[in-house]
Amino acid sequence: MSKKRLLTGLQPSGTLHIGNYFGALKPFTDIYRDYESHLMVADLHALTTVRDAGGLRQNIIDIVKDYVAAGVDPKEAILFKQSDVPEHTELAWMFECLVTVPFLMQAHAYKDKTAKGIEATAGLFNYPMLMAADILLYDTEVVPVGEDQRQHIEYAREAANKFNIAYGETFTPPQEMILKGVGIVPGTDGQKMSKSYKNTIPLFGTREEVQKAVMSIVTDSSGDRPENVFAIHTLFKAESELASLYEENKGKYKNLKDALIEDIDTFIAPMRDARAAISDSDVKNILQDGAARARERASKKMAEVRQKVGIAL
Ligand code: ADP
Ligand code: TRP
Repeated sequence: MSKKRLLTGLQPSGTLHIGNYFGALKPFTDIYRDYESHLMVADLHALTTVRDAGGLRQNIIDIVKDYVAAGVDPKEAILFKQSDVPEHTELAWMFECLVTVPFLMQAHAYKDKTAKGIEATAGLFNYPMLMAADILLYDTEVVPVGEDQRQHIEYAREAANKFNIAYGETFTPPQEMILKGVGIVPGTDGQKMSKSYKNTIPLFGTREEVQKAVMSIVTDSSGDRPENVFAIHTLFKAESELASLYEENKGKYKNLKDALIEDIDTFIAPMRDARAAISDSDVKNILQDGAARARERASKKMAEVRQKVGIAL
């Protein structure tokens, strides 16, 4: 039986933390081999919010290193950069000519971002149609995303339907796959770990960086067990193993934090080493190969689309 086609996109937006790992990377690396997988660096989407060229360039390289080090084998997935396949923006335009402004105005992501003060550019507004193009260009059936992206997949289905109605059956409506990670990973202050809250433990951090983050975990002195330390610890060790450690070290927060540092470091050291072994030129080679494979598929699909809409003579 042939495998189903899967595609997901990654915003190149900075240093990953262990919340990203257990919430997104790990569940992705667990399943991607069961599909014909496409992993796309959404650099054009990043332009809706990023104006720092040097920073963006670095973040693109970093995210490829992160995913490969965390377990994505570029031979078993097409790992490519959105802007290397110009068909994405071309197809987005076709969809923009089919969907209405009131429909796009309902996008939660657009409303949230503009409410936070991000400028309401036309790019930000059209974001869901570029994402629809990313997905539909490869006849994607399954799209693994976080809960916050669910509506964007509905937009992609709507773009597919509109096109199919206007020009005949062309696109397969995709299905979202909401990744079941470990739930919400708490940060050093007990809130959701997030780069915007500055409460993260870096995934590829040095031992010193991990140590600094763990030492900053907020502990309250009311109980025997520091809950914020324990909650993070359960990601790295089974609760049954932790029970005796926490029992023996009741009230000894320093000992428990030291044990956590040790366990995190043991867990991430192999990934950190793997990441350090990937050079910038390895990344360029991976993306070059991925772009060639993605373009081969995208150009076939776009040739069909150009015929259907009547611009290919
Ligand atoms: P951040 O909140 O740090 O900005 P992103 O929004 O860039 O993180 O999230 C990237 C991916 O990592 C998403 O799929 C998201 O669901 C997952 N993720 C982020 N933070 C956490 C967390 N604390 N627990 C579980 N998953 C998370
Ligand atoms: N919008 C997604 C995010 O912010 C990234 C993305 C771009 C994407 N294109 C995609 C995700 C296509 C899935 C499929 O996380």
